[in-house]
Amino acid sequence: MTALDEFHQDLRRGLDRLEEKGRLRSLRVAQKGLDFASNDYLSLNSSGRLLSLMQKAATDWDGVVGSTGSRLLRGHHESFEIAEEEFATFCGTESSLLFHSGYAANVGVIQQFISSEDTVFCDRLCHATILDGIRMSGARRFYFHHNDLDHLRDIMRKRERKGRSWIITESIFSMDGDSPDLHSLVDLAEEEDALLYLDEAHALGVVGSTGAGLAHSLGLSRRVAVLVFPCGKGPGLMGAFVCGSKMLRESMINSCRSFIFSTAQPPCLAHLLSLVFREISGMNVERKHLSFLSQQLREGLHSMNLDFGKSTSHIVPVILGSEEDAMRWMNSLALRGIDARAIRPPSVPEGSSRIRVNLHAGHSVTDVECLLKELYSLLPVGVR
Ligand SMILES: Cc1ncc(COP(=O)(O)O)c(C=O)c1O
Repeated sequence: MTALDEFHQDLRRGLDRLEEKGRLRSLRVAQKGLDFASNDYLSLNSSGRLLSLMQKAATDWDGVVGSTGSRLLRGHHESFEIAEEEFATFCGTESSLLFHSGYAANVGVIQQFISSEDTVFCDRLCHATILDGIRMSGARRFYFHHNDLDHLRDIMRKRERKGRSWIITESIFSMDGDSPDLHSLVDLAEEEDALLYLDEAHALGVVGSTGAGLAHSLGLSRRVAVLVFPCGKGPGLMGAFVCGSKMLRESMINSCRSFIFSTAQPPCLAHLLSLVFREISGMNVERKHLSFLSQQLREGLHSMNLDFGKSTSHIVPVILGSEEDAMRWMNSLALRGIDARAIRPPSVPEGSSRIRVNLHAGHSVTDVECLLKELYSLLPVGVR
């Protein structure tokens, strides 16, 4: 057998194993119907607002389309500097730097700043991009119970005081819709002489009077060493701003591998991001509506005795437990014109499979009522 045949045989075995466990994933083009699955939290895509901004950005644009190089070579453009300066002002930090994605940001920045001499304390439910970055850093690592600051304090006090200590967490957790007590976390980091790294992916655009995220809304932006703002969720686009001090930015430009060794984004995308954040800062009515809908959904689930964990945001899980139930509920909802996805291990811990509901500012009270009615109809007869 050739090396290529053997390789393909191994691939087949791996895929068959996933299929046996019912965990084979496949790509599906988005269906029509009520979207409770995408991360278009502000409905910038579904409302057509982003399309209008893109058309405006294209009209404003008279430059090249592709960047034609890395930012450190010929790929840099004034539009990046404008977007980065505006974003830093928006989120209350000294500087920001645009990466290709949240993945490139988390993996690159964690690897750059955290060394094998350091110790990382990471919330155990942090996103895969963070976990990958930590693994690649080679640092000693401890995973504290989800949002449990007592546990964090406890394990931090027992640590070996060697190198730097980092605490890594998120503003809103993608599978649970809950948040850490950021004030206490910042205090704890300072008491323990540790640095804080915060991923604001699911808070950007949604939290705070201008949508600048959790740290900004609490006046804490300057007390966090590294803030990461992926732009694929509320802003509806892609890319990620990494924010902090001016020195942080300069250092990333000089040494962050995922920033340096990659062709820069089309400069027009940076211009579009500037337009998007100007728009987002004025969307307070939409943010309030989103918060109202979240409350409506949680109250409805509560009245049906459905478990939504500790969600306090626009991400509301309906925790069912078994993978089979989650898949069955997702498929039944799809047949009724509702797109809300099942989330199963390894994305969530074993035994906590769920339907994750992502609410959007474009949903109406009637949309949420419709979802609640369909969820109710899926409850076993004896429970209704
Ligand atoms: C918390 C968090 N960080 C980072 C990412 C990755 O961002 P991106 O999709 O821009 O790579 C995601 C989701 O994709 C996320 O949920």
